[in-house]
Amino acid sequence: MKTQSLAMAVLAALPKVLAITPEEMLSANRYSDAVPNPSGEFALFTVSNYSFETGESASWWNKLDLTTGDISVWTTSTDISEVVFVGPNPTSIIYVNGTNAEGDGGISLYSADANSLEDATLIGSLPAPYSGLKAVQTASGDIHFLVYTKAYPNGTAYNEALASTPRSTGRLYNTIYVRHWDTWLTAEKNAVFGGVIKGANGSYALAGELTNYVTGICNVTCAESPYDQSDQSDYDISPDGSTVVFLTKDTSLPLANYTADVIYVVPFDGTKDDATPINARGSTSYPDAQGAATSPRFSPSGKHIAYFQMNGINYESDRNILYVADVDSENFNVTSLAHDWDRSPDSLVWAKDSETIFVAAPDLGRERIFPIPLSADDSYVPKNITNEGVTAGFYVLPDDSLLVSDSKIWTSRDIYAVTPEGEVTKTYFQANLVDAGLKGLGPEDVSEFYFSTNTSEIDQQAWIVYPEGFDESKTYPLAFITHGGPQGAHFNSWSTRWNFKVWADQGYVVIAPNPTASSGWGQNLTDAIQGRWGSYPYWDLVHAWQYVNSTLKYVDTANGIEAGASFGGYMTNWIQGHEMGRWFKALVTHDGSTSTLNQYASEELWFMNHDFSGPFTEQGFKAGSPYYDWNPLLHVDQWATPHFVVHNELDYRLPVSEGILLFNLLQTHGVPSRLLSFPDENHWVLNRENSLVWHTEIFKWINYYSGISNATSPY
Ligand SMILES: *[C@@H]1O[C@H](CO)[C@@H](O)[C@H](O)[C@H]1NC(C)=O
Ligand SMILES: *[C@@H]1O[C@H](CO)[C@@H](O)[C@H](O)[C@H]1NC(C)=O
Ligand SMILES: *[C@@H]1O[C@H](CO)[C@@H](O)[C@H](O)[C@H]1NC(C)=O
Ligand SMILES: *[C@@H]1O[C@H](CO)[C@@H](O)[C@H](O)[C@H]1NC(C)=O
Ligand SMILES: *[C@@H]1O[C@H](CO)[C@@H](O)[C@H](O)[C@H]1NC(C)=O
Ligand SMILES: *[C@@H]1O[C@H](CO)[C@@H](O)[C@H](O)[C@H]1NC(C)=O
Ligand SMILES: *[C@@H]1O[C@H](CO)[C@@H](O)[C@H](O)[C@H]1NC(C)=O
Ligand SMILES: *[C@@H]1O[C@H](CO)[C@@H](O)[C@H](O)[C@H]1NC(C)=O
Ligand SMILES: *[C@@H]1O[C@H](CO)[C@@H](O)[C@H](O)[C@H]1NC(C)=O
Ligand SMILES: *[C@@H]1O[C@H](CO)[C@@H](O)[C@H](O)[C@H]1NC(C)=O
Ligand SMILES: *[C@@H]1O[C@H](CO)[C@@H](O)[C@H](O)[C@H]1NC(C)=O
Ligand SMILES: *[C@@H]1O[C@H](CO)[C@@H](O)[C@H](O)[C@H]1NC(C)=O
Repeated sequence: MKTQSLAMAVLAALPKVLAITPEEMLSANRYSDAVPNPSGEFALFTVSNYSFETGESASWWNKLDLTTGDISVWTTSTDISEVVFVGPNPTSIIYVNGTNAEGDGGISLYSADANSLEDATLIGSLPAPYSGLKAVQTASGDIHFLVYTKAYPNGTAYNEALASTPRSTGRLYNTIYVRHWDTWLTAEKNAVFGGVIKGANGSYALAGELTNYVTGICNVTCAESPYDQSDQSDYDISPDGSTVVFLTKDTSLPLANYTADVIYVVPFDGTKDDATPINARGSTSYPDAQGAATSPRFSPSGKHIAYFQMNGINYESDRNILYVADVDSENFNVTSLAHDWDRSPDSLVWAKDSETIFVAAPDLGRERIFPIPLSADDSYVPKNITNEGVTAGFYVLPDDSLLVSDSKIWTSRDIYAVTPEGEVTKTYFQANLVDAGLKGLGPEDVSEFYFSTNTSEIDQQAWIVYPEGFDESKTYPLAFITHGGPQGAHFNSWSTRWNFKVWADQGYVVIAPNPTASSGWGQNLTDAIQGRWGSYPYWDLVHAWQYVNSTLKYVDTANGIEAGASFGGYMTNWIQGHEMGRWFKALVTHDGSTSTLNQYASEELWFMNHDFSGPFTEQGFKAGSPYYDWNPLLHVDQWATPHFVVHNELDYRLPVSEGILLFNLLQTHGVPSRLLSFPDENHWVLNRENSLVWHTEIFKWINYYSGISNATSPY
């Protein structure tokens, strides 16, 4: 174990470079959230970075001493993929080793003391690539744990490394929903498994087979938990190890049409046949609660399970409402807390006394933490206890305060402690103060404004991000960035895909507006997008742009560019065919939609069915149907502004043909254009080398057309 202070080591090597380049942003450290041990002595978090010189990444675990604030390297072993605090002492851990001695594609579990990791002992091997470890110590001293992996339809865990390869690659489907995100669906589905580790006080051994609680709960569809691309946030184990809770899509409904979830409770030593739904549709006192659910969590007392659920049965962006189920009561006596609060929280943590639930919710461009007492009635309005940033994770410390990890536009990770009353008592870490690539970034790089528009009673917000060395008496070309979703928002958070400061430091003032559909300003603003893709948000962007044009004298709108991904790419294509298209010197569409007709080539049909106010088969392709009215293709004769197109082959949300269609039409129409496509990327560009090419080529294009560069060509 190394004890050298990481912060010191990095500081000494700081070069005096201020503007952040794509290379610096992409190679800089990336941090997980910091998880404290049960006594609050220290917290562990992972770090990884990348060298463009060697093409290699490095990753390790850090240990943050919560008393002194010292940060040291805990281990550089890349074998350790997960750690949970469980066992006789507050420093006892069990970790997942992502490999095992058999080398069969499975994993192994080890027990250790976090203060003497070198003495770790092997508990046992599991013959499949399980992850998502949750574990508690029972009264007997045994440890009960949960993990998940894919399972065959017969319930046996699936291990790709051992599976035989069929001679044909054909895929056959009888019902829709054949692929999701970047993966074609197969018969193997995620399942939560429970296991027992016998032997208290360190001499542990795996006892018996793991129990699959999920596979076989089937009706119209079969249960899957965690759901598809989700993770261990979809299940939990009670503090005494006696009970398991997990959620799955409602098995009485077809998967492609509905987002409804059912949460099941099952005895730890039970089977799928013992699984009882908490929130089957219509079974609670909340008949409207029909939609997607998330985050079932046992209270520390074990008496309650808190979770979120939306109302809309085919909507993924409805308001999350917080519910609490009584584990011991007949029918679980589900009650809601702060039912009418006009925010949509998406993560939760119980207070130690089980009387308060801390939730994090999008709020005015930040993701803030709010305590909600169990006594909260429908009209209770929670008060935030954090302010800037977007929360990545938060945990209750023994003194009842929270250890919060978040990020901001100017820092990739801050770690601090805050009391339940909102007083920040200790700031442990600020990445922008220690990471060489982030040097010079700070809150002064960012501002915001509210503008009035003709679609909402409330004013709408936009972020301003200034370039390095910003001088208000000079002018800088506008970089106008449109967000995806459309339900979603531009937040005060760090991004490695759309990092506003990296764009600004090319020499732009970045304006990132939050128009109709944005989350964090109440559900009405979010919901107003339905059936209105080409009207409300477009009008809002016009208003935001006009505000900038008339108010922010340091912004050179005449040489501005616009860029967006996903819905933002759709909007860019819409802008290209409308008046606003002529206000920009260049446009960038990343994985957008070119023909709304093709939206039915997407995977999550409920999304289109909701956003375009009904399925295509009902709406048809005629005037008055949102599929028709908001189709960018109808305006192809107006296209004129130089346009950079990115579309990736593994994008099944918006298939690559959308980008090719856009590029083909731009080229046949004589509009300067360029196509960039990655065969190994999905809706996002994640590989750092690919991302560097993405940044380099897009910046060449926009810097040429905005006049920032003196290059003689945009290539
Ligand atoms: C990544 O982190 C390692 C360990 O701290 C350090 O030696 C290396 O210089 C870092 N690389 C980059 C590109 O920051
Ligand atoms: C992880 O497992 C491998 C294979 O059994 C073993 O060689 C290695 O030492 C283990 N590492 C740790 C940190 O447990
Ligand atoms: C379950 O199915 C898989 C794949 O067909 C097979 O390898 C495995 O032996 C089966 N398990 C049981 C318990 O039948
Ligand atoms: C475990 O150790 C504690 C004290 O360290 C002791 O009280 C307890 O009896 C031990 N349990 C077993 C099962 O050995
Ligand atoms: C299966 O779904 C149908 C509705 O499609 C419902 O009537 C029936 O009760 C369900 N059965 C089970 C076991 O959930
Ligand atoms: C699911 O959606 C498809 C396509 O719109 C439709 O044909 C089918 O009737 C829907 N099924 C249900 C149960 O709503
Ligand atoms: C159900 O929960 C509510 C709110 O906690 C409580 O007032 C009520 O007494 C409970 N009812 C039953 C039957 O337990
Ligand atoms: C709560 O949010 C407001 C903005 O709505 C902010 O001014 C305030 O500082 C936040 N409170 C705390 C305790 O962080
Ligand atoms: C949301 O819209 C509904 C229907 O127009 C209205 O009754 C309600 O007052 C609005 N809510 C807010 C918070 O503006
Ligand atoms: C709202 O404003 C936009 C942009 O100025 C304009 O095109 C649109 O017609 C306006 N809508 C209404 C209903 O007035
Ligand atoms: C932007 O502002 C300039 C200067 O005030 C004005 O001349 C121009 O018409 C405005 N552009 C648009 C599209 O409103
Ligand atoms: C562009 O050319 C001008 C005049 O030659 C020079 O001052 C400026 O630094 C150049 N800018 C870039 C980005 O090369």
